[in-house]
Amino acid sequence: MQQVNRALFDDVMVPNYAPAQMIPVKGSGSRVWDQQGKEYIDFAGGIAVNCLGHCHPALVAALKEQGEKLWHLSNVLTNEPALLLAKALVDATFAEKVYFANSGAEANEAALKLARRFAKDQFGEHKDQIIAFKQGFHGRTFFTVTVGGQPAYSDGFGPKPEAIEHAEFNNIDSLKALISDRTCAVMVEPLQGEGGVLPADVEFMQQVRALCDQHKALLIFDEVQTGVGRTGELYAYMGLGVTPDILTTAKALGGGFPIGAMLTTTAIAKHLVPGTHGSTYGGNPLACAVALAALNTVNQPDVLAGVKAKEQLFRDGLHQINEKYHVFATIRGQGLLLGAVLNADYAGKARDFMVAAAEEGLMALVAGANVVRFTPSLVIPDADIREGLARFERAVAKIVQG
Ligand SMILES: Cc1ncc(COP(=O)(O)O)c(C=O)c1O
Repeated sequence: MQQVNRALFDDVMVPNYAPAQMIPVKGSGSRVWDQQGKEYIDFAGGIAVNCLGHCHPALVAALKEQGEKLWHLSNVLTNEPALLLAKALVDATFAEKVYFANSGAEANEAALKLARRFAKDQFGEHKDQIIAFKQGFHGRTFFTVTVGGQPAYSDGFGPKPEAIEHAEFNNIDSLKALISDRTCAVMVEPLQGEGGVLPADVEFMQQVRALCDQHKALLIFDEVQTGVGRTGELYAYMGLGVTPDILTTAKALGGGFPIGAMLTTTAIAKHLVPGTHGSTYGGNPLACAVALAALNTVNQPDVLAGVKAKEQLFRDGLHQINEKYHVFATIRGQGLLLGAVLNADYAGKARDFMVAAAEEGLMALVAGANVVRFTPSLVIPDADIREGLARFERAVAKIVQG
């Protein structure tokens, strides 16, 4: 049998990723084991995806059950899991209509196309400007990556989609300077994830909503990272008191099975008539069956309250580490989307902390060069949080002591 090791990655994979040397082979709850049997506590959760940890029984059962019934049809036909999931999303949110995709980027692509089409139908071709925010992240298709607020990610691929501009996050004057009746949509993350775990101010979001209303622009919330319980609300908009016109969700929606969705109202949705947009796999029965189980499991008062309680455990633990080692300027974020921002002495070294954590048996993430990010399972046992923080403390000690 072919030996499977990290060297094979360099032989056969496109080099757009640089994965760690270890290869995980098994996961259960918030624990993961690699090929050598080394055990890790998972504070990364597949980048805010594994909302119920690894191999949660409800998700495994849903996958097995659907796997023995029906795998795929295409959108020439609808299917029961897709309809049930759409109904559950409509019942749980502001939305009246759902479009299924396979990833966050695809959900955002659909949202942006819908916004452009809606504006063209309602107001005419001139209303095409999309405003997003610096440091924002919306995916890697050419449209979504251009809407994202880091030009380096979209540079070097030829002519970019046009009429896209970027304002400063949490700076309403910066948006005011750009927005006009030519604006068809404003796309924003309620909490910038990849951009550094930076929550939006409530007042800022309310003003964004008001400016969108004033200029008849659609407000799109990208909740790909914040959605499905991550912030302690089912969706972050629910904690802001600001309702978007379109919301995108992916990552945790499938709990590890690829799926994305765009949610909106009937009045807006009706502009995507047959033939305007689509996807072969969107609404796949396996994905929808697993996502329905994930959504139903997360959308329980005790699970959502648990996220806020676990946030406090994390914050307390990280503050205690900081009192000893003085490495963080602040701890920010919401729920179980938390960022430990390194202080000036450790600026640019987030990756070193992540690597040191892995050596100690803890999977963590970064969000840019200065932020160590934690996005664990929403149901991670408190004992695993404590043990993971103890491992993180050992990693911090190693870095501080050189
Ligand atoms: C806010 C946000 N939007 C979109 C995406 C893209 O999602 P995907 O990688 O599933 O295409 C991400 C991924 O990190 C994200 O954090």
